[in-house]
Amino acid sequence: MTQQKTQARTVGRRGTGWTVFGLIGLVVLFAGLATGFCRRVPVASDDPPVLAPNSGDTALFATWPKGVKPDAVLVLSGQSFGYLQPCGCSRPQKGGLERRANFIASLWAKDWRVAGVDLGDLLPDRHPTAGSPGIGPSGILPPLEQDLAKYVTMMNALREMGYVAVGVGKTEFEARLTNVVAQYSLQKEQPPFVLAGNVVGLADGQTVPPKGQTVPQASFFPPGQGGTRPTVGIAEVAEIGQVQVGIVGLVGPSLARTATKIDPTLWFESSKEVLGPAVQGFAARKRAPDMNLLLYQGTIDEAKKLVEVWPQFSVILCQASDPEPPSFPQEVVHKNGQKTWFIQVGHKGQYVGVVGLFKKEGGGYDLKYQLVPMGEEYLTPNDPKAEKANRALTLLEEYAHLVKDGNFQAKVTKTLHPAQIQAPNLNLSYVGSDRCQGCHAADYVKWTTTPHSHALETLVTRAKRPGLRNLDGECLVCHTIGYGFKTGYENEKKTPKLANVGCESCHGPGSGHVSAPNNVELLKLLSPWKKDKTDKLLSVETMDKVAKMGPIERNQVVHTLNERQVLNGVNRTCSKCHDQENDPHFELEKYWPKIVHGGLAAAGGGLPIPKK
Ligand code: HEC
Ligand code: HEC
Ligand code: HEC
Ligand code: HEC
Repeated sequence: MTQQKTQARTVGRRGTGWTVFGLIGLVVLFAGLATGFCRRVPVASDDPPVLAPNSGDTALFATWPKGVKPDAVLVLSGQSFGYLQPCGCSRPQKGGLERRANFIASLWAKDWRVAGVDLGDLLPDRHPTAGSPGIGPSGILPPLEQDLAKYVTMMNALREMGYVAVGVGKTEFEARLTNVVAQYSLQKEQPPFVLAGNVVGLADGQTVPPKGQTVPQASFFPPGQGGTRPTVGIAEVAEIGQVQVGIVGLVGPSLARTATKIDPTLWFESSKEVLGPAVQGFAARKRAPDMNLLLYQGTIDEAKKLVEVWPQFSVILCQASDPEPPSFPQEVVHKNGQKTWFIQVGHKGQYVGVVGLFKKEGGGYDLKYQLVPMGEEYLTPNDPKAEKANRALTLLEEYAHLVKDGNFQAKVTKTLHPAQIQAPNLNLSYVGSDRCQGCHAADYVKWTTTPHSHALETLVTRAKRPGLRNLDGECLVCHTIGYGFKTGYENEKKTPKLANVGCESCHGPGSGHVSAPNNVELLKLLSPWKKDKTDKLLSVETMDKVAKMGPIERNQVVHTLNERQVLNGVNRTCSKCHDQENDPHFELEKYWPKIVHGGLAAAGGGLPIPKK
């Protein structure tokens, strides 16, 4: 123990003011399955944790034994898909590294011994649905460099939180696994260690290898300089307090099939065949682990098949198809009375699962489970000392600087706006809201009173932790005019007139209309939600009435075909930004009255358009 402490101090972070995640006596032992050796690696300092005073929900752990400390605690997360931090667009939002860090610190503050494992899929999902690949109206995908910067930020944060192992998911394969591990694991051998025991390489020119002729994992993912582990491994043993937990990582057959298509240099051995030696390796150790855990990048059904053969795993963290996780694990009881829990933690890091191990009298451990939503109660208090103590916040700030310094904002692929596609010969471009002012004075004045007119400023003044959000394409896409479309917002210097959400954010690029205001074809492009020029949204009075109705009453409101079409069309326009993610409270009937404008003479409307 003395030696461990000395070692721990050498890697501790007193110099950087790091104190939140004091991981007293947590060490990771390499299972040494491939090479047969066994070494101790301290993963964090032994400084006592500083707790955010407002963290901790008293309703948590209510079903855990009272007055008894768990002998060890495992925090389970996964499928964060690049969600480092909630955007803050609406409240309340769940998730983020800052809160997870405070939550884990709150467990340490109870004097619990904690380690984390993550299923993988740390990178953003670049193919969420076929219809809308990316973010915001232009459907941007940030440059791959930005995704990789996120990956490194997450890995660093997980290490600081005391994570010991991380699996590999589809998003890591999409970014090329060799490329992904080169960002972190290859740089320095340090936790969390990447585990996917059945991933191997293919020799040049092979597509389906003859049996036994793949490139072994240890040579395909060789250790970095000074390292002893391959950058993708099979298993680790974590020592949490007095408890040892054997951890294996595997890719299930369905993802394996997908991954070989994504990355034709990879091949996958059967999980069953890899798991056998891993389990036997654990059992053969001088001290066998007290419990085994499997990070399984497969479905729950695939996991169930696997434990029919290898029931030695008490906990299997598997893929979630539902972004909202179940409150309790599914349990399978084996013939010998042993149990396996199948745990899913949902998507985007909005929840973590917590498993507590309590020593049983006759030997073995009782397991308890708690699903914890990462709510606002885990925010860091507004206190410089607390902010500094949360290393995740520092890492997020560093990430924001990487985004700025890498000028990722300029590296987004630009697409054509539908109007630019429909009128290919006109070279339609964005001109900015000021150009509309002269002829649509009343609409312009109204707009200046809405939050849309200072949406970019909001990214500077309201978005903190981290800052510099006005330089991140992931935020700009909904807080400016036309970012991600050809001729749309680029940056504050080049395109100052396209800052904020403006007229053209909804009406599309206006250069054609500005130079030919009466051109009927161009007018049509400005209101894509209208089929007929007399089509109109419901009046504010009607909307106000509908907004107050309950869902049943609302269903009984009869709209004409045209009304319904305009409602749907406008709703689609708003929802490109006011989506489920960023504004779950959005209802057209409640929001439109706040920004109401327009009303052309042709539609019997009131606002005059000054004639030149
Ligand atoms: C030179 C004057 C002028 C300028 C500048 C101008 N408009 Fe117009 N706009 C008009 C006229 C005229 C109409 C047609 C009015 C009518 O049909 O009653 C019109 C109609 C519209 C309509 C209604 C389209 C429909 O559904 O028929 C929209 C929307 C619109 N303008 C948006 C804009 C935007 C956005 C800008 C700035 C990019 C802008 N206008 C700049 C003169 C102008
Ligand atoms: C290009 C993205 C975008 C589009 C399209 C968009 N909005 Fe917004 N909207 C925003 C942003 C960003 C904010 C927040 C601005 C701020 O507070 O800085 C916002 C804020 C608002 C607000 C203020 C909400 C509040 O809490 O007070 C209303 C109302 C609103 N939008 C209505 C609409 C309606 C109605 C539509 C469709 C006709 C629409 N928006 C389309 C981006 C958009
Ligand atoms: C898909 C569109 C979209 C993206 C992407 C987006 N926002 Fe927003 N944002 C909105 C909308 C819509 C609102 C207005 C929500 C409301 O008023 O309820 C908003 C509002 C906000 C607000 C104001 C909240 C308030 O309390 O008034 C902040 C701050 C903010 N966003 C920050 C960000 C940051 C930081 C990012 C990038 C990480 C981001 N947004 C990315 C659509 C978006
Ligand atoms: C958040 C989205 C949004 C923004 C921003 C916006 N508009 Fe509109 N605008 C609409 C919608 C939706 C309608 C249709 C209203 C209706 O049918 O009653 C509309 C209607 C209009 C009309 C009348 C067209 C008609 O069919 O009656 C004009 C003109 C117009 N807008 C101009 C502007 C100008 C100028 C600006 C900027 C100063 C602007 N709009 C900003 C969404 C927006």
